[in-house]
Amino acid sequence: MRSGRRTALRQLAAWVGGSAIAGRSGIGWAYQASEPSIEQYLTDPLLQPASIMDFEPLAKAKLDPLAYDYLVGGSEDEVSLRDNRAGFDRIIIRPKALIDVHKIDLSVEVLGLRWEHPIFLCPAGGKNCFHQDGENTVARAAASAKTLHITNGGIQKLVESGKGPAWWQVTTGGDFRTPQTIRAFVKRLEDQGCGAICFTTDIMYVSHRERNIRNKFDRAWGETGIPRDAQGRVPQPRNPERAGLYPSRPTATPTWDTVRELRAMTQLPIVLKGILRAEDAKLCLEAGVSGIIVSNHGARQLDHVGGTIEALPEVVAAVEGKIPVMIDGGFRRGTDILKALALGARAVGIARPYLFGLAAFGQPGVERVITLLRTELALDMGLAGTPNIAAIERSLVRIRN
Ligand SMILES: Cc1cc2nc3c(=O)[nH]c(=O)nc-3n(C[C@H](O)[C@H](O)[C@H](O)COP(=O)(O)O)c2cc1C
Repeated sequence: MRSGRRTALRQLAAWVGGSAIAGRSGIGWAYQASEPSIEQYLTDPLLQPASIMDFEPLAKAKLDPLAYDYLVGGSEDEVSLRDNRAGFDRIIIRPKALIDVHKIDLSVEVLGLRWEHPIFLCPAGGKNCFHQDGENTVARAAASAKTLHITNGGIQKLVESGKGPAWWQVTTGGDFRTPQTIRAFVKRLEDQGCGAICFTTDIMYVSHRERNIRNKFDRAWGETGIPRDAQGRVPQPRNPERAGLYPSRPTATPTWDTVRELRAMTQLPIVLKGILRAEDAKLCLEAGVSGIIVSNHGARQLDHVGGTIEALPEVVAAVEGKIPVMIDGGFRRGTDILKALALGARAVGIARPYLFGLAAFGQPGVERVITLLRTELALDMGLAGTPNIAAIERSLVRIRN
């Protein structure tokens, strides 16, 4: 426990130190200490994507089609998947004229830490079918890009090294079966020096992801990669995703009582991921939750829940500024992030874009995705007359009827 605290303090110092350096250089453009040469821009494949969207075809070309479907797919009719993107088109930016924007500061405070920019990497299971040692590769990219990574676990050495900016560990509640399992989970994270516990509330069952069902995708392949033989055949899956199974679980699924128990057991911040309604946001406050991530699991769980950007305003209103509200789901553009910040989000998460970067180029791909998105955000902030995050007020956007 004590060593865990030490590690956490080391992490905090590293993080704050990093921010201070960034602060001296004015963050924004200046953070790119090693700006690539024109020659590199013209020839380096990593530098060809014009935006993070351009990584998807590159990833698709490299990935096994079954892994690609697992990555991009949503659940059932994929209505929420489309809504996650469509939601942004209904929000209009109202740029401010004649503001001095010669320096742009993306830094933001989240749960007592200063982040260099308001973008974080969402948890994503199954990374090994996109890249070998996927979780550690992403963790190293996150550390190098000074970006928060919500990890699915298995990066103990990196967390303990204290070299990262901050890592939060996600759980879907399997660790919450009994008070003993909650205690063991909490102790492990505290000892490691993890920065927070992120609890995903929207996956008490795995949804029907029909691409996976048709592909007879076995979730175990997320850990091993798709095991094709020399002839390119996939062996018979042991546990393929399939339709027609009646949902039931052997033990009770977590409830608000579980969150309260968890709260009583640790000083670590607790962040609930998957909140989509004001009523639940209020229950978060009552249960002593430290932060919320408005999320529909990348439209991979319940379908027809709308785009997350549509749910953001009610959640922000419900918490009345008492805890930070973050959001993920379909964020691909600097303007998407700008809109969410204007609607009251503190930070924005991405998953598929950095997984495309991972699949296409490994660690440098993840880092490049972060660079492109944060610089696009900085540019859009400059164009909108908002040189820092505090300048992004609610009046910066209006919502079309
Ligand atoms: C391949 C993949 C695996 C995911 N695994 C998890 C997971 O294990 N736990 C979790 O809370 N969310 C998981 N998510 C959801 C993301 O954390 C995030 O909520 C969502 O994907 C963000 O939307 P975006 O992919 O459009 O950026 C996963 C998403 C993808 C694409």
